[in-house]
Amino acid sequence: AAWEKQVRHSSTPRRPNGFSVLVTGAAGFIGSHCSLALKKRGDGVLGLDNFNNYYDPSLKRARQNLLAKRQIFIVEGDLNDAPLLTKLFDVVPFTHVLHLAAQAGVRYAMQNPQSYVSSNIAGFVNLLEVAKVANPQPSIVWASSSSVYGLNTENPFSERDRTDQPASLYAATKKAGEEIAHTYNHIYGLALTGLRFFTVYGPWGRPDMAYFFFTKDILQGKSIDIYQTHDQKEVARDFTYIDDVVKGCLGALDTAEKSTGSGGKKKGAAQLRVYNLGNTSPVPVGRLVSILEGLLNTKAKKHVITMPRNGDVPFTHANVTLAYKDFAYKPTTDLATGLRKFVKWYVSYFGIQARVKKETQHTDEPN
Ligand code: NAD
Ligand code: UGA
Repeated sequence: AAWEKQVRHSSTPRRPNGFSVLVTGAAGFIGSHCSLALKKRGDGVLGLDNFNNYYDPSLKRARQNLLAKRQIFIVEGDLNDAPLLTKLFDVVPFTHVLHLAAQAGVRYAMQNPQSYVSSNIAGFVNLLEVAKVANPQPSIVWASSSSVYGLNTENPFSERDRTDQPASLYAATKKAGEEIAHTYNHIYGLALTGLRFFTVYGPWGRPDMAYFFFTKDILQGKSIDIYQTHDQKEVARDFTYIDDVVKGCLGALDTAEKSTGSGGKKKGAAQLRVYNLGNTSPVPVGRLVSILEGLLNTKAKKHVITMPRNGDVPFTHANVTLAYKDFAYKPTTDLATGLRKFVKWYVSYFGIQARVKKETQHTDEPN
């Protein structure tokens, strides 16, 4: 069938010993960037995405168009569709899966809790069920989250810190993903690597995230809420630029060992790893806003409020020593530089001319 032909073509590597990677969530923010980077270096990439309307699906379609120009095909389907996943693994001998599809967002979990259970728990299990019987068994790198640290007060966060105090259902489902990964590694010998991303931002980003809707609201003259903690400290995030995260994802794929088909603590047991991928320098949300004000040449209407109990945590801060040691992960983009690139993309994508500083006017595609 034509469909199968496209799937095969898209996922065939173009470099010697190249990977054949199934990227779930390929129409998403991080997934689209990673797909382009993998393809660019000659790996085969097949995307999977259900194009749900958690945020404006037209942005997902625009990313899909960008990928199509580079011969990357995205299959439209759901993680929970077992026959579809089985078919994909039958047609393509994937060496790797980069699993990024999930219900993201911390506060939305209070509005639609079931979507988190369905995509982040049931969908992940469904993928692992198919991967465990695939031949070959792929190595899997999947998105966990900085949110697993929850109310942990160690500063910075290391991978061995406690993760038993999730502050949101989103965090709880990401933590569950880590436990689930352990069982599939142990029983079925799947090689699994979890990446705890820290508030990732950049061009082609997510409209539900603060930096994105702050930009929109500032330009439209609407007021924005800036959260402060109950003791009136500023809330801070270890904002991490997308290109740094992409390098981390590729590094994790490159150092992933093969799945062994047999788990357990015996010789030859498959690998199970978890890494922080952050920026190592937390920035208060107020500072994020003042950088945006400068780039947009517009004063924000700021409304400072005490942090509601909506799943947010007071701060995040990554220690990335482990990722540096194992695959030379080193973030290189500070928030002001990264936001300048985001705003440049934003004004170009939405065709905004007025007010914004000249140097942010023309844009280029990622990678
Ligand atoms: P995103 O929402 O832009 O991308 C996720 C994509 O997955 C979307 O295109 C969505 O349509 C798709 N998807 C969701 N559920 C699906 C399902 N059941 N079946 C098929 N497709 C489905 O989000 P993102 O920011 O690119 O995040 C990617 C991953 O990284 C997610 O797992 C997220 O939880 C995690 N993460 C993101 C951040 C961040 O700051 N962006 C931080 C930590 C962790
Ligand atoms: C982000 C992503 O949305 C999650 O998908 C991801 O899992 C998480 O990072 C992570 O690192 O694991 P979050 O840090 O909450 O979550 O990102 P935003 O929603 O963009 O919020 C950024 C900061 O702005 C937070 O400190 C938040 O408290 C603050 N904020 C948000 C405000 O001050 N006002 C708002 O109206 C919204």
